[in-house]
Amino acid sequence: MPSSGGLWPRLGRRPSISRPRLVVATLNPAKARELASLLGEIPFEVVALSTIPGAALPPEGDDSYRANALAKARAAARLSGAVALADDSGLEVDALGGRPGVRSARYGGAGLSDADRCAALLAELGGLPPERRAARFRCVVALAAPDGREEVVEGVAEGRILETPRGTGGFGYDPVFFSPPLGRTFAELDPALKNEVSHRGQALARAREVLRRWAA
Ligand code: IMP
Repeated sequence: MPSSGGLWPRLGRRPSISRPRLVVATLNPAKARELASLLGEIPFEVVALSTIPGAALPPEGDDSYRANALAKARAAARLSGAVALADDSGLEVDALGGRPGVRSARYGGAGLSDADRCAALLAELGGLPPERRAARFRCVVALAAPDGREEVVEGVAEGRILETPRGTGGFGYDPVFFSPPLGRTFAELDPALKNEVSHRGQALARAREVLRRWAA
């Protein structure tokens, strides 16, 4: 039988008794499942941090995605005694000098909805022509092992900010983030396609390679 914290039933994978555990360092169950699904086939049994007694994570700061992801991965590795994975991500707008960046989840103030944050961003960019609306999503993933091994990988998706939102899928800034090669916003993409091209999908694919190396 799987351990109670295993995420494999959702993923249709069977755990193996000999597989080491990988703790996904988030207390948000939906995000844990998403990260586990993006990792795909790895030689670890993926478990959620919330199943570890005393589970807690350091708050995200404003310094860098890397510092936030590493702090969470280290904390989860220490708590669980297992390899841990954490991510941090954000939207970087060139015309805003890379803002909101590491503060993307907090941009515009506390208590705003995703739609409010998109509206605040469109208001701040008001009047800028398309060629000055370049932006990218960046995702940084940190891996930490109890023996001190650490690795950080990242993925980037380039695009530009539209003048009005389009699409109903995804979350966050997806409705205003237009991908020129795909000709659609991220909110207009089929979720499987978004996973393939997104900053998070790319970063998790790189993390998968690190984990396969660590397990070898
Ligand atoms: P976190 O990595 O969960 O802390 O997310 C940071 C914030 O960046 C999110 O709350 C969103 O506002 C934004 N963000 C990160 N990735 C995406 C994405 O794929 N689509 C839309 N917004 C994103």
